[in-house]
Amino acid sequence: MINEWIPLTFSDELRDMKGVTTLGKNVLLLRYKDQVYAFSDLCPHRLARLSMGRVIDGEIQCPYHGWRFNYKGELTLVPSLGKKINVKLTRYSVMEKYGIIWVSLIENPYHFANIEEWEDKKFRKIKCGPYYIDANPFRVMENLMDVSHFPYVHEGYLGDPKFPQIPEYEVEINHDGEIIAKSISVWQPNPDGTINGRFFNYTYKILSPFVLYFRKEDRGDIFSMIFAINPVSKDKTVVYAWIFMNYAYDVDPDKIRQFEDEIINQDKIVLESQPKEYYLDLRREISVRADKLSIFYRNMLKQRLGIIPELGLVE
Ligand code: FES
Ligand SMILES: [Fe+2]
Repeated sequence: MINEWIPLTFSDELRDMKGVTTLGKNVLLLRYKDQVYAFSDLCPHRLARLSMGRVIDGEIQCPYHGWRFNYKGELTLVPSLGKKINVKLTRYSVMEKYGIIWVSLIENPYHFANIEEWEDKKFRKIKCGPYYIDANPFRVMENLMDVSHFPYVHEGYLGDPKFPQIPEYEVEINHDGEIIAKSISVWQPNPDGTINGRFFNYTYKILSPFVLYFRKEDRGDIFSMIFAINPVSKDKTVVYAWIFMNYAYDVDPDKIRQFEDEIINQDKIVLESQPKEYYLDLRREISVRADKLSIFYRNMLKQRLGIIPELGLVE
């Protein structure tokens, strides 16, 4: 079982109830009196999907025979019997952070560190996604931490084939268990949708197997992003993202969002063509200097997740 926080929806996309899928399981999210609750989306009677039912007086009513459950997951009524019996739904841990609702299928998941920009008024925040990609979730994460594809997949935006070299860069693991790569310098023709070409200096942080942060800076201008991915299955991934910028306040947020949509669409084409497996054994693919960060990432996966064939995580 996976002991990690997984993003399942943006907060503002959950009204009263929503069914989502993660790790091959259906999960029901319920918003009740400003709190969010998560349950197995499976009615214990005949295993119908509860989220296809309705919320009535704060209670979930199953679409099949109308059994009702309260926000604690307790069965409150079996209509055909005219009373309740003693049954409870499986309940999961929930947290709301970065305008995202996160669930862990196990109690006490690994904690991940805070992103300063979220509370910092100097940064504007732009919500991006969700992006639906028919690719392996770990290959999506690896793509998000990889700068050497910029000149080819994002030519004219994040890279230029005239400047493809990636110098040696440092990678370290801090006391929170995060993987950090610093001082990766990349020439970008249009780094943020504002069409001002410049060298940006990248810092990456892998906060968890499913959460990535990067910051790029040039003379005080900071552009950073957090990406959180839902590993739906070995061939389906959903990406939730935020952009933070302490400059270009006058640029229309929709323009910046469209820029990110375009970047992800470019990645999607390559990602969906790759195998639905992600190999923990480094000998299965050939790696070079620029791939150092993804090798650290695979080590994190080996230690924290291990082999999970359902997610395509294999030897
Ligand atoms: S399957 Fe839910 S009430 Fe019967
Ligand atoms: Fe990319």
